Amino acid sequence: MPDKNYQLKVLISREEIKNTVARLAKEIKEDYHDTQPLLISVLKGSFMFMADLIRQLDLPVEIDFIKLSSYGAGMKSSGEVKVVQELKTPIKGRDVLVIEDVVDTGLTISFLLNYLRKKKPASLKLCALTDKPSRHKAPVSIDYLGFTLPDKFIVGYGLDLNEKFRNLPDICVLENDESS
Ligand code: IMP
Ligand code: MG
Repeated sequence: MPDKNYQLKVLISREEIKNTVARLAKEIKEDYHDTQPLLISVLKGSFMFMADLIRQLDLPVEIDFIKLSSYGAGMKSSGEVKVVQELKTPIKGRDVLVIEDVVDTGLTISFLLNYLRKKKPASLKLCALTDKPSRHKAPVSIDYLGFTLPDKFIVGYGLDLNEKFRNLPDICVLENDESS
C-alpha cells in the first residue's frame, strides 16, 4: 500500500477499548482468583493491551514475552511461524494465559498454543483483543475475546503496518483514498 494513498478511520475508539479491557479483566479475575497466573504477551502487537489489562487485574500476576515471526513486510502472512524471542520464565506447572492482539488466520496462535502445551503448563488459556473469524484457516478457541471484527486490516493500540501506527490510541482501519 503506497504511503500517501490511505486514510485512517477509527474502527474501535479508545473509550470502547477501555470498557472492553475492563470487562475482560473482570472475567479473568473471576476465573483466576486464587491463582498466580503467568501472562504471556505475544510481541510486539499485544504490548499495549497487556499493559492496560494487567493494571486492571487485582491478582499476583507475573508477565513474560514471546516473539514470533510469521509475517513478512506488509499485510499478508507467510504462513510459517518461528519463535524469534524465547520466554525467560519456565512455564511447567504454571497457569498460563496468552495475550494476543489479533487472531487472523489463527496459524500463529495455534502454533504458539501447541508449542506452549508441550512445556506442560498446569493450564493454558487464550485472551485475544480481536478476532477475524472469516479469516480463520486453523480452528482456534478463544477463552477471553475483546472484539469480533470483519476482514479488515487494523492498526493502532499496539498494532502496526510495517512497524508504523502502533502509537495510535484508537484501533483504526486503513482505507484507500479512492475508496472513501
Ligand atoms: P495469523 O497467524 O494470521 O492469525 O496472524 C496473527 C498475527 O498477524 C497477529 O498476531 C498480528 O500481529 C498480525 N496481524 C493479523 N492481522 C492484523 C491486522 O489487521 N493488523 C495488524 N496486525 C495483524
Ligand atoms: Mg500478534
